[in-house]
Amino acid sequence: MDLLSYQSDFISYLESQKFTREPKNLYEPIGYILQLGGKRIRPILTLIAADIFSGDYKEALPAALAVEVFHNFTLVHDDIMDDAPLRRGNKTVHEKWNINTGILSGDAMLILAYQYFENYEPIVFQKLAQLFSKTALEVCDGQQLDVDFETRNDVTIDEYIKMITLKTSVLVAAALKMGAIVAKANEEQAQHLYNYGLNLGIAFQLQDDYLDTFGDPESFGKQVGGDIIENKKTFLYLKALEVSNTTDKESLQALYNGKQKNNSDKVATVSRIFKSNNIPQETFKLIEYYTNKSFESLNHLQISKQQKEGLRAFGENLMSRKV
Ligand code: IPE
Ligand code: IPE
Ligand code: MG
Ligand code: MG
Ligand code: MG
Repeated sequence: MDLLSYQSDFISYLESQKFTREPKNLYEPIGYILQLGGKRIRPILTLIAADIFSGDYKEALPAALAVEVFHNFTLVHDDIMDDAPLRRGNKTVHEKWNINTGILSGDAMLILAYQYFENYEPIVFQKLAQLFSKTALEVCDGQQLDVDFETRNDVTIDEYIKMITLKTSVLVAAALKMGAIVAKANEEQAQHLYNYGLNLGIAFQLQDDYLDTFGDPESFGKQVGGDIIENKKTFLYLKALEVSNTTDKESLQALYNGKQKNNSDKVATVSRIFKSNNIPQETFKLIEYYTNKSFESLNHLQISKQQKEGLRAFGENLMSRKV
């Protein structure tokens, strides 16, 4: 399992596509966001899955690109919804252009993503499109819950896990299963790989939420504290409410109900409360729990020992990421 080859083959394939065409104001933002980089985790997972089941991962490049274009579409719209100024260390699309551009370029990206499935024969096309449509709707469901939670004061940790499963994990899981579909793996094996991705995706979003508050502003690439400013009901916040004393709990609730006008004071106070209540440690524990849970699916996979070790290493590396 050679992650660097997957990545460089993926980037070459991406770069061979001409995203910028007329009308420029529609397509330039698409080229912009796709060239900004990112970790390319989802397309790499698609290629890994295809490689595991068929040995021919290049066959999965169009599917991998479909997943990455879709992911980038969700980011463009997510940044509008989250009022985010920065993405991958650069201006978000709606900041560099405007909100209408973000909406329409995002819409076009969703269609472009689907077009990549036209590279496959009808049976594979149908399976990919079916999984993709189901997944894309789930992401919308999750994104709506995420927004609904901003103004709710009774969100539970279970509800939060359900929400991040929808907005984030299902796409990580589907990325893997799409590789398995292209490689014509049997359904049961594809499903075990999907479940590995589902739990890994939960760990991934927990880590994203941790980094949003505690990441290094120099390298994180997004606005640190953005979730706090937006009153996001993350695990960090929900756990802090659960374990903190009355004073901390009341401060948190007041701050998340808009009683603090100065954002940098708000971020500083909330981060301090999180830290003094050991929330980072609690978050790491849960990240580890879901990562280990993802590894349980590996026991059901009829693949080589080295391949299982590769998938395990992938999960472990995600836990130590800083971006
Ligand atoms: C960001 O995804 C959105 C989440 C689901 C957390 P990534 O962290 O994979 O973003 P890039 O593509 O590497 O920039
Ligand atoms: C993103 O969740 C989920 C999707 C884009 C569907 P976040 O809002 O936490 O992602 P970032 O932190 O902006 O990348
Ligand atoms: Mg966001
Ligand atoms: Mg969001
Ligand atoms: Mg985030």
